Amino acid sequence: MRKIELAALPGDGVGIEVVESAKDVLHTLADAHGGVEFSFTTFPWSCDYYVEHGEMMPKDAMNTLKQFEALFLGAVGNPALVPDHISLWGMLIKIRREFELSVNVRPAKRMKGIASPLANPKDFDFVVVRENSEGEYSEVGGRIHQGENEVAIQNAVFTRRATEKVLRYAFQLAEKRNSRLVSATKSNGIVHSMPFWDEVTKAVATEYPHVNVQSNHIDALAAFFVTKPSEFDVVVASNLFGDILTDVGSAIMGSIGIAPSANINLEGRYPSMFEPVHGSAPDIAGKGLANPIGQIWTAKMMLDHFGYDELGQTLLDAIEDVTESGIKTRDIGGTSTTKEVTEAIKSSILQAA
Ligand code: NAI
Ligand code: MG
Repeated sequence: MRKIELAALPGDGVGIEVVESAKDVLHTLADAHGGVEFSFTTFPWSCDYYVEHGEMMPKDAMNTLKQFEALFLGAVGNPALVPDHISLWGMLIKIRREFELSVNVRPAKRMKGIASPLANPKDFDFVVVRENSEGEYSEVGGRIHQGENEVAIQNAVFTRRATEKVLRYAFQLAEKRNSRLVSATKSNGIVHSMPFWDEVTKAVATEYPHVNVQSNHIDALAAFFVTKPSEFDVVVASNLFGDILTDVGSAIMGSIGIAPSANINLEGRYPSMFEPVHGSAPDIAGKGLANPIGQIWTAKMMLDHFGYDELGQTLLDAIEDVTESGIKTRDIGGTSTTKEVTEAIKSSILQAA
């Protein structure tokens, strides 16, 4: 019996509700199938914690978290209590940067029983691999002068090391899936970093001769996600481009409440972090209305990460079994509560076992 030690960081708002739900489902899955056990240690770090202690996490938090095999995070942020730049940079972004979670993986697929806003979405099923540590999101730059003379400069940073890392990950994922990769570029408008990105793509491609790779400009690609999402399989993108593409991805699935993500430390030096795409949803927090599927699908990604692909598939099948049967939260057109959806997914797992 393998026991996997996980740190649960429910955070704020609906994060608390959906992490509870996903833990419950994971325990049910492990009990039903055997061979693995998940041990969660829960940390209360959040905006409430900040109000009490003046910081989002204690000083030794990173040392504490380092001991775990993976981090399972809900959502961080409660702008009524703590400004977002303090809460996010004090916890979420701090973890992403210090634990070198340099690749962000976000799948999107058409789910049974969930209406896409697209009239004819067909059966799309793709994964966006996003560079997660540099690129357009950098602190390099500054502002000078005021008023009419004011100048703002924001520099994008592309290192060969990080670019190769994200591309290799994407090529390897493409090899495991359908050997098709699309790289997001904009070399016609961004004349230094994007030609560099394209060059590195070509160089890395020689290591994966079986993968068919093609480059698309980001503007066209964003439109294709709307007009023909079923033609994509693995898509690799810089930090900003990937951020935008994955919001389109979750939008065409039908709700941000179902979109999962993984932040991966490729070297295995630090734990990887698994979190849904959505935030703390203060507008519905504490009411039992949150969709737990984003968090539960995130747990599936964690299972894949640990090599339990079959269990992951069982979990995804249970999710779709439930959405297809119409047991759904309000954001995807149903009337069920978080708890009802959670219980239905557990029942489906037990029935399939
Ligand atoms: P949000 O994702 O929390 O909410 C956007 C909309 O989606 C809201 O209408 C909300 O009700 C709905 N929604 C989100 N998750 C849902 C779920 N599981 N089930 C049903 N509906 C759901 O984004 P927003 O409102 O911009 O941010 C709220 C707070 O969350 C802010 O403090 C923000 O900084 C933080 N945030 C944190 C993230 C993270 O921890 N990774 C990501 C995005 C935002
Ligand atoms: Mg985003």
